Amino acid sequence: MEPVFDVSAFRQALGQFPTGVCVVTSVVGTETLGVTISSFNSLSLDPPLVLFSIDRRAASLPLWQQAAAYTINVLSENQADLSGRFSRSLTDKWEGIACETRAGHGPTLPGAAAVFHCAHWAVHQGGDHLLFIGKVISFRTFRDRHPLVFSKGRYAALENEGFADQSWPLASHY
Ligand SMILES: Cc1cc2nc3c(=O)[nH]c(=O)nc-3n(C[C@H](O)[C@H](O)[C@H](O)COP(=O)(O)O)c2cc1C
Repeated sequence: MEPVFDVSAFRQALGQFPTGVCVVTSVVGTETLGVTISSFNSLSLDPPLVLFSIDRRAASLPLWQQAAAYTINVLSENQADLSGRFSRSLTDKWEGIACETRAGHGPTLPGAAAVFHCAHWAVHQGGDHLLFIGKVISFRTFRDRHPLVFSKGRYAALENEGFADQSWPLASHY
C-alpha cells in the first residue's frame, strides 16, 4: 500500500522556503490577465529564461495557454494588497488600477520592485500546474524599492536590506 502523503505537512514544509511575490500579466485578445504568483524563478542566463507555474484550476488558464508574451511584476514590500487583489479568482482584478501597457507586453504595475517583459518560450506539464517558461526581452530594476516576501503562508518584509557588507553583483550568478 502507498504511504499516505500528508498534503498539509507538505505545504508547511514548502512554506519554510521564502519567495518573493509577483503579479504576472498579459493581454490576450480583449482580455487583460493578472495572477499573483510565488512560483516565479530564474532559469537560465543564456538565453535569459524565467519560469512560473499556474494551477490547472485557475479560471484564466485557457487564456494563459494562448499568451504570446507576459510581464512579471515583482511586488514591493508595500504591495501586499495587490497580491491579495490578483489572487481573487473571478473578480474584476483591474478595477480602479491605472497602469501602463505597451504593445506586446502585459500591464506594468506602478510601484513594482522589478519588471520582466517576456516572450512565451515553452510550457510543460507539472502535475496539477502548468509550467510556463518565458524568454526575457527587457527588464527594469527599481533598486530603491524593497521586495515583498512570502513565507509560511504570510507576507513579510526584509528586515535588513544591508545583508552584511555583500556588494552587488555577486561573484557567482546566484
Ligand atoms: C502569495 C500568493 C502566491 C500564489 N502563487 C501562485 C502560483 O505560483 N501559481 C498559481 O497558480 N497560483 C498562485 N496563487 C493563487 C492565484 O493567485 C489565484 O488562484 C488566482 O486568482 C488565479 O487566477 P484566476 O482564477 O483568476 O485565473 C498565489 C496566491 C498568493 C496569495
